[in-house]
Amino acid sequence: MTIHAGYLQYEVAFGDWQANANTIRTMLPIVAAADLLVLPELAFSGYDFHDKAELQSLAEPFADGPTRTLLTELAAETSTTLVAGYAESAPEGCYNSSMLVCPDGTAHNYRKIHLFNREQHVFLPGDQAPTVVDTPVGRVGMMICFDWFFPETARCLALAGAQIIAHPSNLVLPWCQQAMFARSLENAVFTITANRIGTEARTDRELTFTGGSQVLGCRGEELAKAPTDAAHAAMAAIEPHDADDKAIAELNDRFGSRRPEMYAQLK
Ligand code: ACM
Repeated sequence: MTIHAGYLQYEVAFGDWQANANTIRTMLPIVAAADLLVLPELAFSGYDFHDKAELQSLAEPFADGPTRTLLTELAAETSTTLVAGYAESAPEGCYNSSMLVCPDGTAHNYRKIHLFNREQHVFLPGDQAPTVVDTPVGRVGMMICFDWFFPETARCLALAGAQIIAHPSNLVLPWCQQAMFARSLENAVFTITANRIGTEARTDRELTFTGGSQVLGCRGEELAKAPTDAAHAAMAAIEPHDADDKAIAELNDRFGSRRPEMYAQLK
């Protein structure tokens, strides 16, 4: 089954949910044929919160927040499975989360496991192992931005059966887009990194987000690529089942050739 999978890359307006929703609505027709679209991390709130109180004022519950309502509407209208990062409020605090919403309204949540730098001052770290969701477009796993730096995240998703990794991002370090080549290749999974662009200068630091969103094939091929500094929407035709072939060479297999008994230190 061929599907069209892609991303929306844009400048997230800090603290302006409605402006970001409008941007997304404006961009969707560019990729009207998409079956799966990934949006950036914190796609509706912005990134650099002053403190927990400010984050709390912009966060929303997974079950019935405005982002869940909007994505449910858009997924049904466009027959597209959507993945977007958002600030999740929960009784115990806020998580840096992403939700996956299918056209039939089914929704799944992921809480970022590896918090980057000062995110640790305001967010709680994800409290559940990454899971894979069986969707109409294939088996999709979610990870968020800095999770890329820990190859265990993508490996666990691949071992759990992911064919596609949806990767909402707000990247500020320069290496991720290149490193995702390795995540795709070593696991034989499609990866969709949806990054944002623009600069936030809200605290004593200025953060510039690096764009360069991309769709990589399950052998690391670059199938779609965004510029570093402009809004962009793109998609690529992919066969999710190609990711089920884990062969490397005649006598090697990505999973079969692993030696977990030699990796005890990983614990
Ligand atoms: C990041 O994890 N947003 C850098």
